Amino acid sequence: MALTKLQSGSDLYRPEMDDVERASRDEIVALQTKRLAWSLKHAYDNVAHYHRAFDAHGVHPSEFRELSDLARFPFTSKTDLREHYPFGMFAVPREQLVRVHASSGTTGKPIVVGYTRADIATWSQVMARSIRAAGGRSGMIIHNAYGYGLFTGGLGVHYGAEELGCTVVPISGGMTERQVQLINDFRPDIITVTPSYMLAILDEFKRQKLDPRQSSLKLGIFGAEPWTNAMRAEIEDAFDMDATDIYGLSEVIGPGVAQECLETKDGLHIWEDHFYPEVIDPDTGAVLPDGEIGELVFTSLTKEAFPVVRYRTRDLTRLLPGTARPGMRRMEKVTGRSDDMIILRGVNLFPTQIEEILLATEWCGGHFILELTREGRMDELTIFAEARPESWDGSGLADHADRISTHIKNTIGITAKVQVVAPDTLERSLGKAKRLRDKRSKD
Ligand code: DLL
Repeated sequence: MALTKLQSGSDLYRPEMDDVERASRDEIVALQTKRLAWSLKHAYDNVAHYHRAFDAHGVHPSEFRELSDLARFPFTSKTDLREHYPFGMFAVPREQLVRVHASSGTTGKPIVVGYTRADIATWSQVMARSIRAAGGRSGMIIHNAYGYGLFTGGLGVHYGAEELGCTVVPISGGMTERQVQLINDFRPDIITVTPSYMLAILDEFKRQKLDPRQSSLKLGIFGAEPWTNAMRAEIEDAFDMDATDIYGLSEVIGPGVAQECLETKDGLHIWEDHFYPEVIDPDTGAVLPDGEIGELVFTSLTKEAFPVVRYRTRDLTRLLPGTARPGMRRMEKVTGRSDDMIILRGVNLFPTQIEEILLATEWCGGHFILELTREGRMDELTIFAEARPESWDGSGLADHADRISTHIKNTIGITAKVQVVAPDTLERSLGKAKRLRDKRSKD
């Protein structure tokens, strides 16, 4: 990956760190053991659900002595959290919350999460650490295009950026024309936004006949949805910038649970002093050794208002040893959520696999939608892939479509119809992209 607008000798590649980022693995493990004992007791003593669930499982926080003991405690699922809507999972009186957020939840009730003043301070610190790991420094301008509101992206990044000493432009998502205007006028160093919305901003640069490579943006901190290294290359090249991946989820705190370091760009370091990760076999619940792919599970170590114990994220990844921060493990880029997995006639497919294939072509810039329909008893997949304006000749590009269809058949093993559509025809997301259109239930 090119070191682009930053010279390789730049200060940004000489990372500044919190003391804990320099800690050894043994020191991290000792800290986690101490904090986990506190967190399990805190959850058990103050949240009726955890009290009941631990009792039903025949386990008590006093039995926790070392990290491997965590496996004896029960998992927490999205359903557990939903059942206690809105305020039933808090471990402190509601009056001690200074803020709530909620997950969007496409179906059913949202999940409500809450923060004490100390939780907001913790979140700001891990977010500031994330921005710094991405190359951000005090004094820089951040264009924050994550949505503000109940979604944790906007305010989470905002407080972290202020903590680091950056100047925040709290633009939120949407009004793409204005985003481009303000990037030109304010000359921010950093942009924080979902990768899919970054593509919409890129389109707008082109529409306004502006060269994105000449923009002031040097660093992009992209997350909140799965994206591939192919998409990273696309964005880095288009903007002549360095792009890193940020991961988080509302239930665990919001953005800033894990962040890719600028100097290595090799997966995301989990801030293990606050969040304890496990990877499990999603079917059996067994804890998998580091290096094996499964479902990511988190236990919070320091959160006061909304502790989570073995929370099943449904995100699929694996744990790897630390590199740029040797004491903290990394998680591989999340390829998808178990919820997003399409099973088409027995073959598993994630939208990121299609993203990778489409971006490897010359003609597709990364806008696509997968549509599922049912013909009789058979599920059919159609991929609508948008052509780049410079490649579109108005013909529908049937030969490109056939080539991709064959490639998908040969590599993933599924039969999919591919339809190349004209530039600017697929709906743009302002935040998280919706890659899947499931029309099966209506058929
Ligand atoms: O998306 C928090 C966030 C905001 C993260 C801004 C990064 C940047 P939720 O809305 O609760 O929170 O959604 C969490 O989004 O379980 C993943 O499935 C997905 N996700 C988040 N970051 C990534 C990422 C925020 N870097 C859910 N790569 C998670 C892949 C991600 N998926």
